[in-house]
Amino acid sequence: MKRIYFVLAFTAFGFNAFGQKTIDQKVSALLSKMTLEEKVGQLVQYSGFEYATGPQNSSSANVLNEIKQGKVGSMLNVAGAVETRKFQELALRSRLKIPLLFGQDVIHGYRTTFPVNLGQAASWDLKLIEKSERIAATEASAYGIHWTFAPMVDIARDPRWGRVMEGSGEDTYLGMQIGLARIRGFQGKGLGALDAIMACAKHFAAYGAAVGGRDYNSVDMSLRQLNETYLPPFKAAAEAGVATFMNSFNDINGIPATANRYILRDLLKGKWNYQGFVVSDWGSIGEMVPHGYAKDNKEAAEKALLAGSDMDMESRAYMAELPKLVQEGKVDPKLIDEAARRILIKKFEMGLFDDPYRFSNEKRQQEQTDNQENRKFGRVFGSKSIVLLKNEKNILPLSKSTKTVALIGPFGKETSANHGFWSVAFKDDHQRIVTQFDGIKNQLDKNSTLLYAKGCNADDQDRSMFAEAVETARKADVVIMTLGEGHAMSGEAKSRSNIHFSGVQEELLKEIEKTGKPVILMINAGRPLVFDWAADHVPAILYTWWLGTEAGNSIADVLFGTVNPGGKLPMTFPRTEGQIPVYYNHYNTGRPAKNNTDRNYVSAYIDLDNDPKFPFGYGLSYTQFKYADMNLSSANLKGSQTLKISVSVSNTGNYDGEEVVQLYIRDIFGKVVRPVKELKGFEKVFIKKGETKTVTFTLTPENLKFYDDQLNYDWEAGEFDIMVGTDSRNVQTKRINWLK
Ligand code: NOJ
Repeated sequence: MKRIYFVLAFTAFGFNAFGQKTIDQKVSALLSKMTLEEKVGQLVQYSGFEYATGPQNSSSANVLNEIKQGKVGSMLNVAGAVETRKFQELALRSRLKIPLLFGQDVIHGYRTTFPVNLGQAASWDLKLIEKSERIAATEASAYGIHWTFAPMVDIARDPRWGRVMEGSGEDTYLGMQIGLARIRGFQGKGLGALDAIMACAKHFAAYGAAVGGRDYNSVDMSLRQLNETYLPPFKAAAEAGVATFMNSFNDINGIPATANRYILRDLLKGKWNYQGFVVSDWGSIGEMVPHGYAKDNKEAAEKALLAGSDMDMESRAYMAELPKLVQEGKVDPKLIDEAARRILIKKFEMGLFDDPYRFSNEKRQQEQTDNQENRKFGRVFGSKSIVLLKNEKNILPLSKSTKTVALIGPFGKETSANHGFWSVAFKDDHQRIVTQFDGIKNQLDKNSTLLYAKGCNADDQDRSMFAEAVETARKADVVIMTLGEGHAMSGEAKSRSNIHFSGVQEELLKEIEKTGKPVILMINAGRPLVFDWAADHVPAILYTWWLGTEAGNSIADVLFGTVNPGGKLPMTFPRTEGQIPVYYNHYNTGRPAKNNTDRNYVSAYIDLDNDPKFPFGYGLSYTQFKYADMNLSSANLKGSQTLKISVSVSNTGNYDGEEVVQLYIRDIFGKVVRPVKELKGFEKVFIKKGETKTVTFTLTPENLKFYDDQLNYDWEAGEFDIMVGTDSRNVQTKRINWLK
């Protein structure tokens, strides 16, 4: 006990238990030596020049000079042991020798790329997701990177928005669990470990709710909705110790997120007591001028800093304007100190003051350039992200001895496309990717033949390759069609108003279908696409997203049944664009439609069904799972009691397989209306054929809480439906009563 008091007393005076200075003390000492310009310098971030992930304004000569003068705190898009060392050497020529932080978008893998993030979310496998980020952090840190701009924890209900590929889909609970797994993966044993990189919860906030799904567009929503649906993954990230946050480009109810005091000062740095730092998004401070929220960069810098944005990514507003604003008395220098302190603390925690070059190690980089173990993992992860949407007459899995198989479509021999958007460490290194053709060819029996025809390009009107494709299909016993959208058609600034297969792909599919050959369709995309015709006419459909370096092998593992697909959709798949936004956890309305035929004076379209093509949580398996009736520990609860829900699931088919058992609730009525379903738990279980497993969930009043119109967060006594099932549509329900 005495020892603990001694330690506490000592740390309170700024020393640790061994009499050394704490990080806080070291930062104070450093700040006391810094000029105003040097402090502001810590708040400045520029992009390197070989690779830019936004519109660049700065000349390289200026930036290099400014680094030497101590006017830059961080660089993004500078990577590699040699390159980061070069930049760090420049920083160490500055008066106080403060090292740079190197950031990069490590979004779905680094040298080994993994499925695009929405595809990863379809695995509903938190352990795999965490491990993939552990690998990404190990590879990126070996390339000199200290900091990733991930995870993106934006909830998104609009598949027209291109950045859905980078998130975890539409659900707050699933998105929060996945965000936390990613942070654990990136930050590993903690900042300071050589294989840990700083994570960044982005984009704060509500970027995924852009009006019309158009990237960078405005967001207008109630604070209740913001707090209930969009903010929980951020709050959880802050509580979990994510090192940094990033602003979003959008305005929220008329105030750009970058200068939004409510979310930054009141919530993040206030109520949530967040200690890390906030970086702007690329140019988002300067963009407050076109937003119409600041008359010039000077006012933008003032508003951003006062609101709580600590670092300026590529706006050139902080360095140019903050010193003047301090001199004019418009910005309290204490705010600059506070922002610089937050950033310097991270540099100390990363060990950069002990050794600024500790991440710039060529030997480590070499080991991580093409790491075979990581690739093996990527193969498994890829196969577990695939979602089986349809499998009539058990056409899948395909026998390896099928005599002649034809692979047809624009993505069969694609290399770079398999990465998906945001594969920054790849550049021209495409030969490392396993194509779909190679993956399938390698697993097909030696006596079988794999034919190939491209059929059409991903996104133009050229039909000249149709005839050859039809001819190829005629020669085959089975046709595997590979269609979807090009890898650069989802991602930042890749909103689409039409989310059907691009170009003439659907026409090609119709031509092939006319041959009468059995067709297995693989859909490659970063978002939910609309493919109503295909869903109704093609007997087997696999949603293969963009799977990364090992794509072809992952796909072949599922096609031939080495892996039994167990993925489930993390977003609702609409019938057509006119249904968007369509999501499972909507409100009931006062006139809910009961079915698809009675459309008179109910909340429905006269020309379109209300229900989606494929619901949230949906995905089939090569085997069948049968749910027994669920058991509840009680139907009448009181106060802080716990409800136990258990259900037995039997594998009644012919293959071992994994099932994601999902738990939903509905609060029947309240002082604000509640969604018809809310995901509250899930468990992924492996069940051998013929076996049964019991899954148990627990609910406490904490799980029943919601925000009312005054933003009070609490639960109300009353009736609740408890639902368990294989997806958000197919559930069994029991009603309970829970009193206060
Ligand atoms: C803009 C994107 O919105 C953000 O997510 C990314 O991290 C930065 N550019 C840096 O590339």
